[in-house]
Amino acid sequence: SNLDLEIGELDKGDYEYFMLKEIYEQPKTIEETFRGRLKSDYSEIVLGGLMNVFPKIEAAQRIIIIGCGTSWHAALIAEYMMEEYARVPVEVEYASEFRYRKPVINSNDVVILISQSGETADTLAALHLAKEKGATVIGICNVVGSTLARETDAGVYTHAGVEIGVASTKAFTAQVTVLTMIALKLARRKGTIDPEEYKALVKELAAIPEKGRAILEGNEHIKRIAEKYYEAVNALYLGRGYLFPVALEGALKLKEISYVHAEGYAAGEMKHGPIALVDDNLPVVVVAPQDDYYEKVVSNIQEIKARKGNVIAIVTEGDTGLKELANDVIEIPKSHPAVAPLLSVIPLQLLAYHIALLKGCNVDQPRNLAKSVTVE
Ligand code: G6P
Repeated sequence: SNLDLEIGELDKGDYEYFMLKEIYEQPKTIEETFRGRLKSDYSEIVLGGLMNVFPKIEAAQRIIIIGCGTSWHAALIAEYMMEEYARVPVEVEYASEFRYRKPVINSNDVVILISQSGETADTLAALHLAKEKGATVIGICNVVGSTLARETDAGVYTHAGVEIGVASTKAFTAQVTVLTMIALKLARRKGTIDPEEYKALVKELAAIPEKGRAILEGNEHIKRIAEKYYEAVNALYLGRGYLFPVALEGALKLKEISYVHAEGYAAGEMKHGPIALVDDNLPVVVVAPQDDYYEKVVSNIQEIKARKGNVIAIVTEGDTGLKELANDVIEIPKSHPAVAPLLSVIPLQLLAYHIALLKGCNVDQPRNLAKSVTVE
């Protein structure tokens, strides 16, 4: 409505678009999301909304996580984390597939539904199906009092605040924050994580806002990179492990707001298709921090360079090797691999933003897309 727009206009502050404002809010919104939920000595994670269902989550033989779009990418990150630390099988599904494909679900299953709006039609239909089959249904959403929040057995709110840009940014990092807390709490309760590593990870999560601020200071540098590549018609995004979903999310951001055809891929799959696309017109964004996959990702970069592709690498601060090899680098502070998505997605959001802006696109309201898809 007009009224909403007026209130929205006031909220935009000094930013040209809501999306930029929302990208910049992330250090604060991530903090809001874990505030009061992480004990100050990092010993405990408190998720009041899940108190009653936690025994069910602990006993679950498997966990199914469902969402659409960006929320589905958050689910993928949670899959990796819950399997690594809580040692429980996790399946991730698109709501639109799950609701129609006659999935096998029973009363021992825990189904987590992720939705910023809490009103996405497919996600709500998946919720109803899971409920009908007797599963425990848990919601992660941003909009207080939304249908998802009301109709699930239990849930956790992301405290990202109102998100106006159609392309999700701060809601995504808030979802990942909540999922990280659930995964770590579950692992701790099940005794599947080393107590020292648990504490270290909680501490790493608490350090994200400060590191996020450091990344935002690199905005001008990212803008200059966007100026070099904004006329490209295709782009490829690669990552491994926890950063594979980040590659998917980076590609989605670019296609949503700049209409550039972009594909996210697991870096190890490059040789099974995408490498055929590589030539001197193709920008390839590689998420390549110094983690256990580093050597493998570096060799992926070498393969791209050997075919004259242009590599934009997201690297750990001080990585001089990749500075030599890649065409452009964007540095991010060092972090534990399991929380690295919260940092490495930020430069990808900014890159998409600047490319869209240079192309003259309406960043907040891209053509053909809706903030919340409440009909099929
Ligand atoms: C739409 C939006 C996306 C969002 C998706 C899921 O496609 O444009 O930004 O990720 O819906 O929305 P939800 O509110 O369920 O997270």
